[in-house]
Parts: sequence; structure tokens; C-alpha cells
Amino acid sequence: MPVDLAVVPVAGRGTRMLPITKSQPKEMLAVGTKPVVQYVAEELEQSGVRRMVLVTGPGKTAIENHFDIDAGLIAALRENGQESLLNKLAFERMQLEYIYMRQRRQLGLGHAILCARPVVVEQPFVVALGDSIIGVHAESKIVAQMTELFEQQEADGVIAFERVPRSEVVHYGIADVGAERDNYFELADLVEKPGVDEAPSDLAVAARYVFKAELFDYLEKTGAGKGNEIQLTDAISMWIRDGGRVLGVQLDASEPRFDIGNFPSYFRAFFEFAACDPEHGEEFRSFARSYLDEAEG
Ligand code: G1P
Repeated sequence: MPVDLAVVPVAGRGTRMLPITKSQPKEMLAVGTKPVVQYVAEELEQSGVRRMVLVTGPGKTAIENHFDIDAGLIAALRENGQESLLNKLAFERMQLEYIYMRQRRQLGLGHAILCARPVVVEQPFVVALGDSIIGVHAESKIVAQMTELFEQQEADGVIAFERVPRSEVVHYGIADVGAERDNYFELADLVEKPGVDEAPSDLAVAARYVFKAELFDYLEKTGAGKGNEIQLTDAISMWIRDGGRVLGVQLDASEPRFDIGNFPSYFRAFFEFAACDPEHGEEFRSFARSYLDEAEG
């Protein structure tokens, strides 16, 4: 059975990005011409996902509004002779079913995923973090590759990783790499946000996962960890210690991960997406060139 269900946690408060996240979900921040979560939905759809369970929380209704079909707006564009803008709303017609669950208490990423259990029940599923884009303009097929490996290897889980500078391991789940195969590796363990000196590698979890539903049993048993939150990483680590087989794949250099959870990385993402924009990119690049020449000259 193909994996066609994804859980997309979008409940986090985005405190690292205050004040812009005070009344606006970080998943709705613009990167180029679209909000982050739209790239995530588009990426998932082209990887074969057909149902998306968005786990929301307080202040996140803008996400639900964004994915609704806005008949009033469509009619207004037609009446005002602005039909040419209708293609900007084409994403409303993606082959996706949207299911919204609510995390009623902010107890961490692991707990947010557990909130989706009543919908997922027993089937394997993808987890895609709603604040990360993979590849410029989200053309990545990494999730399709991961679900294929997951099925072919009959694994319990597959996780995407990206190499990060040693100083950044403190922000991510970090792989303890076991046996290495051609295009994947066995995960010996996973550590959430280790210190630079304790990190078992520089391979950081890159916001995309595939799991068997058994993950929920481990999430249920996971107590508060780093930051006093129920961590997905801790549940995976417990599962591996219990004999679970979790595999790691590395993102290709051509599809970097854009983390929209902190300002330096958000600025880089916006810049790169603006510079690559098919409609406005050329003008932006020429502006950026003259701006930098002037600033340096
Ligand atoms: C979460 C996970 C972490 C992962 C990161 C990026 O951290 O807990 O393991 O590496 O997402 O995908 P957060 O960004 O929520 O602090």
C-alpha cells in the first residue's frame, strides 16, 4: 500500500522568530512569493501524498484559511477583469485532502505528532515539519525516495539528514550512524540537540520522516526531554534501542533544506527564492548586485 498520508505539525509558537510570529504563524511567513507551508504541501503532493493532517494550535487559523477554496476571491477577480491572477490560486486545486487536528497543550513536537494518532491509526505515514522547505521552489522528490526505501527495506522508519557545520548541531536531532549502505545508512541512535562535543556526527535531521504507526506507542511512553518538551527524537531513540530498524538518507547537495525557524536561515531562504523567481528573479538579482557593489565600493 503506498504511503499517501502525511502529518504536518504546525503548532509551534515560533518564539525564535519574534516579533514577526507574534500574531502570524511562522508557517505562513513569505519565502519569495508563497508562504512556507504552501511549499511543503506542494512538495508532498508531488511525492504522492494525498491526505495531509495538519496539527495546529492557537493563532494558526491563517493556515486553514490559506488552503480553503476562496470562491468570493475568485468571483471578485473575474468581475474585475483580473482573470490573469487566477493561476496564483491554482494551488487550491491540489490533489490533497486537508485534515486539521488541534494540539490543545503545547507539549512539544513528539506530542503534536501523537495528536494525529486518531486519524493515522495503523497506516505508515510521512512526517513533514511545516517550517522547512526542501530544495528551491520545493521541487524535491525526497519524500517519494524515502517512502520507496521504507517499503523496499520494510523498515520501521526512514529519516532525511543534512550535513551541518559542527557549531550548528546544537539546533537539531543528530544521527549516530551505524552500518553504511549504498544510498542509505542504519541509524544506531539519534540525539536531540547535543552539545558540540557530544554530537555523534554532523548529520542533522532535515524535517522529513516516514514511520510505521508503531511510532505512536513509543511517543506515548516518552517523557519530557530537551526544553521540557516531548521530543520525537527521544521516541525514535527508544524504538531503536528496542530493536526498531530506522534508516537515514542524506539530502542531495542540489536540494538544500531551508529552515524557517530562525532569522539567519529565513533571510537566506527569502533571498535565494527571490533571486530564483521565474517572474521577478532577474530584476531582484540586478538590484542585489548593484546593492552589494555599492555597499562594498
Ligand atoms: C525539530 C526536531 C529536531 C530536528 C529539527 C529540524 O527541532 O526536534 O530533531 O532536527 O526539528 O528538522 P525544532 O526545530 O522544533 O527545535
